[in-house]
Amino acid sequence: MKQRSIGNVQVSAIGLGGMPMSIEGRPDIDRSVRTIHAALDAGVTLIDTADAYHLHADEVGHNETLIAQALASWSGDTSDVLVATKGGHLRPGDGSWTVDGSPAHLREAVEGSLKRLGVDAIGLYQFHRPDPKVPYADSVGTLRELLDEGKIRLAGISNANVEQIRQAQEILGGRLVSVQNQFSPAFRSSEDELRLCDELGIAFLPWSPLGGIAKAGELGSHFAGFAQVAEAHGVSPQQVTLAWELAKSEHVIPIPGASRPESITDSVRAAELTLTDEELARLDQAA
Ligand SMILES: NC(=O)c1ccc[n+]([C@@H]2O[C@H](COP(=O)([O-])OP(=O)(O)OC[C@H]3O[C@@H](n4cnc5c(N)ncnc54)[C@H](OP(=O)(O)O)[C@@H]3O)[C@@H](O)[C@H]2O)c1
Repeated sequence: MKQRSIGNVQVSAIGLGGMPMSIEGRPDIDRSVRTIHAALDAGVTLIDTADAYHLHADEVGHNETLIAQALASWSGDTSDVLVATKGGHLRPGDGSWTVDGSPAHLREAVEGSLKRLGVDAIGLYQFHRPDPKVPYADSVGTLRELLDEGKIRLAGISNANVEQIRQAQEILGGRLVSVQNQFSPAFRSSEDELRLCDELGIAFLPWSPLGGIAKAGELGSHFAGFAQVAEAHGVSPQQVTLAWELAKSEHVIPIPGASRPESITDSVRAAELTLTDEELARLDQAA
């Protein structure tokens, strides 16, 4: 599969988002492991997760544990797979999502992720979401310390605006390697952050790149322009969407979620799909 870079690490141009395998509507463990194995079989070397991808309060890190299990049971060499996890979000177990960006929480969260992933250092650690109660500089400053201590190899941020990206880049002394923001045909307001990442050479990881778990399957019926281009190429509207995102910048690496092997197997083909300039311009306008 085509490769892109996160910092000095080469990864597949399409990653796998782990969230659908651990939150509401998740499948059984066997299907999840088969989904992760299908991604690895297809050449995926970036898997996105978070300690907050779980349902009940007593199963923090459900998704990280699942990924560690799937990597351990895959027949191939997993040494080039980058597992990107996150900290700073919590799920108390009532369906809600809360935030804690305090240095104490982030430090504790990293220790938990290290254990569950079974590694000495986390490949890519992303601060999940700004916490309005904690100065951004304190949360990102903790990432800097974790980098310096060698607990994390690469540092990223998520749900950040232009100002926060610039601030994080400064605090990290130029070592910010990724920004993970929502971006899809339905949600295009992260275009400014995508452009800034392109300018700074930072990887931009669109989250919910297909519009999110509930709507991804029907993307073609909501966005006729994407469905038309898909028909012309004989591929799925989801593949067209991911190819359109990839074409926005060489620094874009979409992380489509999946809970079925067929979904990720189809999505990775987007890396080989080339759209014309005219098609890309039409999709930029397509409602
Ligand atoms: N940083 C953040 O705050 C944040 C927030 C949300 C998500 N994320 C990350 O971003 C990842 C992706 O977002 P998401 O999972 O919310 O939404 P998404 O990627 O837009 O949609 C996921 C759904 O798309 C379906 N799908 C994937 N490929 C498909 C294909 N080729 N054809 C048809 N359906 C397809 C999957 O269905 P099946 O389940 O049937 O396979 C899956 O449930 C997450 O998994 C998570 O890692 C991060």
